[in-house]
Amino acid sequence: MATFATFKRLKDKGVAALKQGDYVAAKPYLIQAAECMIELAEENKDAKQRAEQEAYAKELIELAKSCDRKARHGKRGRGVRDRAGEGEEGGPSAEDWIVKEKPNIHFSDIAGLEDVKEEIYLKMIYPFRHPELAQRYGIDVGGGMLLFGPPGTGKTMIAKAIACELDATMFVITPAQLMSKWVGEAEQNVRKLFDAAKAEDRSVIFMDEVEALVPKRRDQQSAVMQRVVPQILQELEGFDRKPGRALLFLGATNEPWQLDTAMMRPGRLDAKVYVPLPDAEARFKLFEIYLGKRPLADDVNFAKLVELTDGYSGADIKAIASRSATRPFLETVSGAQPRNINMADLLAVIAEMPPSVRKKDSEKYEQWAAGVG
Ligand SMILES: Nc1ncnc2c1ncn2[C@@H]1O[C@H](COP(=O)(O)OP(=O)(O)OP(=O)(O)O)[C@@H](O)[C@H]1O
Ligand SMILES: [Mg+2]
Repeated sequence: MATFATFKRLKDKGVAALKQGDYVAAKPYLIQAAECMIELAEENKDAKQRAEQEAYAKELIELAKSCDRKARHGKRGRGVRDRAGEGEEGGPSAEDWIVKEKPNIHFSDIAGLEDVKEEIYLKMIYPFRHPELAQRYGIDVGGGMLLFGPPGTGKTMIAKAIACELDATMFVITPAQLMSKWVGEAEQNVRKLFDAAKAEDRSVIFMDEVEALVPKRRDQQSAVMQRVVPQILQELEGFDRKPGRALLFLGATNEPWQLDTAMMRPGRLDAKVYVPLPDAEARFKLFEIYLGKRPLADDVNFAKLVELTDGYSGADIKAIASRSATRPFLETVSGAQPRNINMADLLAVIAEMPPSVRKKDSEKYEQWAAGVG
């Protein structure tokens, strides 16, 4: 169910990524925002407003399309280091940046990644559900885990599903939010975050773009970072483990090779989980999930779609599904007879949408995963 709040969140994320020159990240948000706006338009009874919303959705789609071109010609990186390097003007207040949520995403909503799910159950869910057994075998409840892999493969979804499965409160944060150019403030921010997390029985701290914690340059900013990482690890180690309580620290990154070895020591982010691009079976499931709720023509051939989308991420497939819907939708809006999404719509979208992860890059992840695995 689309809401204005969802639309705004998606659009804001897309625009923020655009501003950073991160077109790869911006695109799926813009597409999802457009899709959301189309849904809102469909529900809107006011014809004038509806027309405006449809025009806005169209604009967002054009903007998203331009991302492909820009990504090919310009920067591909996430711009994280730059942003972290700038720091926050004056430092954010606790209320501004500590965002709590109770996610409602289940492992069954995540296509494929069966090995990943199994590993997470073993390391995070079962020890929590069976504390006596875990204690007997000396298995810790809680701790840290690093999810790494290409963009749009479901890392954030997994983190949410873990929090949901444990009925935990999730705290979502990026290193940039902890940063401050004021002496001691980044450390204070870490403390505030962990205090808030420890105040709950079960918490999952999810730090996206965790590679930005690792200093790149030998300047003052780096010195702050060098204190922040050990502090996070200390906070984790200092957590009072009692039955029914848990504090998990999940880091996610698209650039695992940037990470500090100190983050990876046993008892820390020692559990490294590779979240790869979806295999054929997972892509089938993804098409089922994201096309399933839309009206489909008989000629839609899932096996063919799976074959054509080798190398595409979950987020890409979601985008293909929503973009294929905009064609018949816009035709209908302009007065044509309503029709179902057909194979030609899907093929046209796939033809103009290359995978967001380049083959060369996905091989890099495979190699890194093989090295640490
Ligand atoms: N395995 C999957 N099953 C279902 N949906 C998926 C899957 N992978 C990706 N998606 C879809 O793609 C969107 C992006 O996924 P998500 O945000 O979890 O990716 P990510 O790995 O965290 O990407 P990034 O590295 O860019 O943060 C999700 O909202 C979801 O709709
Ligand atoms: Mg993510």
